[in-house]
Amino acid sequence: MTEKNIATKIRVYAYNELNEDQKILVDRAREATKGSYSPYSHFRVGAAIRLDNGTIVTGANQENASFPAGTCAERSACFYAGAKYPDVPFSAIAIAAWHEDDFVEAPCAPCGVCRQSLLEYETQGGKPVEVLLAGRDTVYVLDSLRSLLPLAFTEF
Ligand code: THU
Repeated sequence: MTEKNIATKIRVYAYNELNEDQKILVDRAREATKGSYSPYSHFRVGAAIRLDNGTIVTGANQENASFPAGTCAERSACFYAGAKYPDVPFSAIAIAAWHEDDFVEAPCAPCGVCRQSLLEYETQGGKPVEVLLAGRDTVYVLDSLRSLLPLAFTEF
């Protein structure tokens, strides 16, 4: 028997400690929560993806009376980025969430399906995508999408 350990390094920052680019991306993710259509959960998620060409693409969760038909903020952003800028690698993503009357306190992390979807773009882009998970006061910073999904499914 052998053992493998998978470690994920998360750096915890106060918003004010972020660099300017990181602050801008977090701000855009926060702003994107306004585009959420979430009459069922009332949980407004925003995602902002910075592309290598400097463009920032944003998305927000879109719900539906038939619950499974809705989609998360992260997938609305990455699918749009993939469709509009097919060959431009991602360089960073920020995610934020608003509930009731404020941004949520705990940094908002993507669900498993979104991790799998996002990782494909990181793999395709050939370089790590910085991840900023924004809470109300603190922001988790990870070096890659891969670090959010250890043992990811990959095609054979
Ligand atoms: N949601 C996201 O937008 N991103 C995630 O990673 C998890 C959850 C959305 C889906 C649904 O509209 C609402 O948050 C509550 O689950």
